[in-house]
Amino acid sequence: MKHEAFHYPALEDVKAESKKLNAFLLLAERASALFQALPLGSKEAANRIAFQPMEGTDGTEEGAPGELTVRRYHRFAKAGPGLIWFEAVATLPQARASAHQLWLTERNVDQYKKLLDDIRELSLKENGYAPLIVMQATNSGRYSKPHGYPEPLIAYHCPPLEDAPLSEDRIVTDEELKRFEEAYAHTAALCQQAGFDGMDVKCCHRYLACELLSAYTRPGPYGGSYENRTRFLKNCYRAAQSEVKGSSFFLSSRLNVYDGFAYPYGFGVKEGGGLQPDLREPIQLIKELKQAFDIPLINVTMGNPYKNPHVNRPYDHGNYVPDEHPLEGVGRMMWGVSQIQHAVPDLPVLGSAFSYLRQYAGNLAAGMVEGGHCAMAGFGRLAFADPNFIHELRENGTVNAKNACVTCGGCAVLLRQGIPAGCVVRDREEYKL
Ligand SMILES: Cc1cc2nc3c(=O)[nH]c(=O)nc-3n(C[C@H](O)[C@H](O)[C@H](O)COP(=O)(O)O)c2cc1C
Repeated sequence: MKHEAFHYPALEDVKAESKKLNAFLLLAERASALFQALPLGSKEAANRIAFQPMEGTDGTEEGAPGELTVRRYHRFAKAGPGLIWFEAVATLPQARASAHQLWLTERNVDQYKKLLDDIRELSLKENGYAPLIVMQATNSGRYSKPHGYPEPLIAYHCPPLEDAPLSEDRIVTDEELKRFEEAYAHTAALCQQAGFDGMDVKCCHRYLACELLSAYTRPGPYGGSYENRTRFLKNCYRAAQSEVKGSSFFLSSRLNVYDGFAYPYGFGVKEGGGLQPDLREPIQLIKELKQAFDIPLINVTMGNPYKNPHVNRPYDHGNYVPDEHPLEGVGRMMWGVSQIQHAVPDLPVLGSAFSYLRQYAGNLAAGMVEGGHCAMAGFGRLAFADPNFIHELRENGTVNAKNACVTCGGCAVLLRQGIPAGCVVRDREEYKL
């Protein structure tokens, strides 16, 4: 696996390149902005660093955390993020992205509880505080592979995502959608029972709830108008809310504010404007979620990991070379995050896709937080490569280049193969391609 030195020997070089590209990259000299506490509703995150959900495909067949799942979260706990956004956990067996995706049930809820207890205890011992832990509840929709081969549950035919049109009976009916909504109620009750601080009704990366946001061509109550396209997400929230007790457990979403597919196949894109973003609907939706469901934060992301991963997680090595420079991809994400934060200034925004910047990822995160462009910075691939980067940032003000993610895409290759995913460069003993 290639892992040559980064193209930019110094922070000034990244600044110069992003200026040349007109990319929205704010790089702070110091990381101190990341080490302030952040109130989130009735709770508080000890710092501004979150670990984004990173699926490991290493659950048991029954959906419980497996040995490698436990290893990963123990490493995460010791690292000391203020928030762990726990990876995608299926709400139904047919909605699993692999035979080893996590799936929370009555039978395994105690194993989740034990893992959460251990995470909190390990972090308290190591860092003096426990992280908040949000569970990402998912229906994998188009990307469902519960038995290891594709069994897609799609909202509508989407040509950019279908090389050949999928069969008609792959489109989920309105009745099925109602049953899928109810599954979020059941999962929310279990999620609270397990001891998570909150649950994410996952609405990103073109899994089912996210795909419905762009179902312009779907007839009936779940397609066409904005109201119809957002119905499933809001019904999932209503179903979940009806099952949770007390006021401290919260709901939120990881939301695609831009899919990167032209109208009528993408959310957050300008009608008739090609791939140009238009954040009016995403902003309206976030305001409505805040108003109706009292979400204490929103986790903002973009793109689709299968068809346009350069939008979702800018990289140096992937299976195609995009038309844009990776710094432009990072800049688009930072711009989107900032637009949302400014549109809803009283709602903390958690930003995504900082890992491309390698040893400067902390400078970008601190720049965004310091400038008020987001309240918290979330790290995905870097958390796989070097969860310890938080200690490096705290102690030296910078991420150690020798440990940083090299954006080789190896972890995503493992994930696509349905085998345990982790860093094939920095955690080689456990993960090999
Ligand atoms: C192996 C792998 C697993 C992922 N699993 C999830 C997931 O479960 N849920 C999710 O919302 N995003 C998932 N993502 C996306 C990441 O959370 C993140 O958005 C992306 O990697 C960009 O952030 P980064 O630049 O910090 O890596 C995954 C990405 C990778 C590479």
